[in-house]
Amino acid sequence: MHITGATALVTGANRGLGRAFVRALHERGVKKVYAAVRNPAAVVDDTAVRLDLTDPASIEEAARVAGDVDLLINNAGNATGAHLLTGDLADVRLEMETHYFGTLNVVRAFAPVLARNGGGAVLNVLSARSWVTALGSDGYSAAKAAEWSMTNALRLALAEQGTLVTALHVGYMDTDMVKHLDAPKSDPAVVAATALDGIAAGAFEVLADEVSRGAKKALAADLTVLYPSLSAARAS
Ligand SMILES: NC(=O)c1ccc[n+]([C@@H]2O[C@H](COP(=O)([O-])OP(=O)(O)OC[C@H]3O[C@@H](n4cnc5c(N)ncnc54)[C@H](OP(=O)(O)O)[C@@H]3O)[C@@H](O)[C@H]2O)c1
Repeated sequence: MHITGATALVTGANRGLGRAFVRALHERGVKKVYAAVRNPAAVVDDTAVRLDLTDPASIEEAARVAGDVDLLINNAGNATGAHLLTGDLADVRLEMETHYFGTLNVVRAFAPVLARNGGGAVLNVLSARSWVTALGSDGYSAAKAAEWSMTNALRLALAEQGTLVTALHVGYMDTDMVKHLDAPKSDPAVVAATALDGIAAGAFEVLADEVSRGAKKALAADLTVLYPSLSAARAS
């Protein structure tokens, strides 16, 4: 997939990693960026499109308006911090509606657009949390795990029309989503550049940092490697 000259649509383009994607796309000479956001008034330099992942009609309308897209970046997401066992089920549902059903609706709406425009590419922004959960972000992890499986299925389905589907996995990034956390964080600009390099190279998967590379490797090990507290639970 050639990034230079592409027409891209980025969801959640107004801040965080989405904004970093928009900048990186312009640096690489794209023809046009549709900034797909909940509040179009917040977009100044690009073509604003209203898109709320929890509003299927807005997704349909975005696909109608942005009919020249050949690079779809599914970046928008939320994190409520809901616990699966005790948290508000409305928050658990919202994360699933956003990351899973919302992103799925976007791909379903844009698949014919991408087919008409030569196949193109889809990038789904996943997480190291697709592979390793933690209490405190377990509702989020479950939604990201579902989005990972969905991404794998859509890659198979869209191969027929020549659409590349790339999954981006990353640990913490320095954005609003985790501003309350005191932990090492990647620079979203570096993550966006790494992801675009992956798309340009035709990669199915981009592991943008050591955390995501370590999480993937640990999946093959005993579960106590990913979850050391289980060793104590087993011993007691
Ligand atoms: N930050 C991290 O540590 C981290 C790590 C791994 C993966 N990720 C993933 O990276 C992606 C970007 O997150 P970020 O860190 O940039 O977060 P962020 O700074 O909180 O930005 C989230 C973006 O998603 C948009 N959004 C939220 N709910 C939406 C909805 N229902 N419809 C449309 N847009 C919606 C927000 O729009 P508003 O401005 O309107 O709220 C905002 O533009 C997400 O998929 C996230 O899960 C983040």
